[in-house]
Amino acid sequence: MEKVIFFDTTLRDGEQSPGASLTSSAKLTIAKQLAKLNVDIIEAGFPIASEDDAYAVKLIGKEVKGPIICAFARCVTKDIEVALKSLEVAEHPRLHLFLATSEIHRKFKLSKTKDEIIKIARDMVRFSAKYIDDIEFSPEDATRTEPDFLLQVCETVSKEGVKTLNIPDTVGYAVPEEYGALIKFLREKSPDNVVISVHCHNDLGLGVANSLIAIKNGARQVECTINGIGERAGNASLEEIAMNLIIRKDHYKVSVGLETKHIYRTSKLVSSLTGIPVQPNKAIVGENAFRHEAGIHQDGVIKYRKTYEIMRPQMVGIPESSLVLGKHSGRHALNLRLKSLGITVDEEKLDRIFEQFKNLADKKKEINDLDLIVLAEQEIMPSIEPVYILEYFHILSGTSTLPSATVRIRKKDEILEDASLGDGPVDALYKAIDRIVNLSPKLQDYKISSVTGGKDAQGEVVVSLMIDNLSVVGKGLSTDIIEASARAYLNAINQFFARKSITKKKYRGA
Ligand code: KIV
Ligand code: ZN
Repeated sequence: MEKVIFFDTTLRDGEQSPGASLTSSAKLTIAKQLAKLNVDIIEAGFPIASEDDAYAVKLIGKEVKGPIICAFARCVTKDIEVALKSLEVAEHPRLHLFLATSEIHRKFKLSKTKDEIIKIARDMVRFSAKYIDDIEFSPEDATRTEPDFLLQVCETVSKEGVKTLNIPDTVGYAVPEEYGALIKFLREKSPDNVVISVHCHNDLGLGVANSLIAIKNGARQVECTINGIGERAGNASLEEIAMNLIIRKDHYKVSVGLETKHIYRTSKLVSSLTGIPVQPNKAIVGENAFRHEAGIHQDGVIKYRKTYEIMRPQMVGIPESSLVLGKHSGRHALNLRLKSLGITVDEEKLDRIFEQFKNLADKKKEINDLDLIVLAEQEIMPSIEPVYILEYFHILSGTSTLPSATVRIRKKDEILEDASLGDGPVDALYKAIDRIVNLSPKLQDYKISSVTGGKDAQGEVVVSLMIDNLSVVGKGLSTDIIEASARAYLNAINQFFARKSITKKKYRGA
């Protein structure tokens, strides 16, 4: 069976999701996980967009071996030079060039004629081909481009050495039959050694359907993101495309090289680092994706799973919610359980996870697999050197009193303390922290969710703050939601300081 190449663009198009901004170290963490998932290509960023993006591409190219590492660039010499520079250390680099081709983009965005578009595309591919072999080209807004002109662009760039022609449905406008026919047409007209790729957006909820019909019509590369995050309504979701191709292999007749047992952890990690939650009814990775609620369904599943289950949750790495460990479990048992969940950590990290595990076991009687994943993730996540560490807080709140908070924070050897009133306990807490750190962050978003089950679940708070025109996301975890709120807020503030000071230095030195 022919293989479908998985091109993951979580770190580029996915990062263009409103509110998602990933630091280079967060990107590296995700890229390492994508490599475990065995994606074929990682689009690591858009180097001209920012120094941190360029640095992320470089870092991923240096540290992540296996997948092709790709950088995105406009058909502009400067973009290409910066992208190529960022790719210098990658083992298998790819340059992804794009240029809008539809009439609406030519006229209103670029003010260019068809001939000018052809010339730019030809010149820029020719220029790039002097430095790199693996070039992908995307005629942006391809699905609203006149098909004969689209073909002309594709023929031009193929002649200059483009090996992958990506046909984006940039604005999510295509309908499956129409898109399938377009892909068939381009497949038939293009040289056999050129891979036809697809890149679908979800504005009408058809991103995955369009990707699948394209594969049925000869596309052999699919561009997608974890959890379907991306511009506006997002991109086609990797996990949905993958499981469609696997579960309905009889229909699609293609092979997939992904290690699907890493899907769930990758989804969790991306959600956690971007601060974008996964909707509960999301196919494959949503909380309810494998839950059977109706009595008739439960009865059927108990008698024979396949009555209502078309795939096993373990295929995508969803842990069985069996109760596994408790207060008296040892370090060895913890390590074994982590390994069975696909998490391998060194001795030092294991010590820290074990310590957290013991703390949690004091608060929570039964610790399940989800709890363990959450604990381990705290350790695996990119860590920054915190400027401020929460020492203590005290809250007074109720229906008949104005909420107040007292907070004590450590900054190196200094102990800082302040108090404030607020509209609610969290507001009072945040105002007290603002006074201590002497900043006035704008709270853009605050989300709270329980990340594990039961009344004693661990709560995760994700806050998004705007500080001095820099958007940062912070996370905090605790069985106490006020404590989780304080930790998330301080974490965001620490991220702010880390980003401000580290980025430039690292980029220049890398
Ligand atoms: O949606 C899009 O068109 C893209 C690029 C592939 C140009 O993200
Ligand atoms: Zn896109």
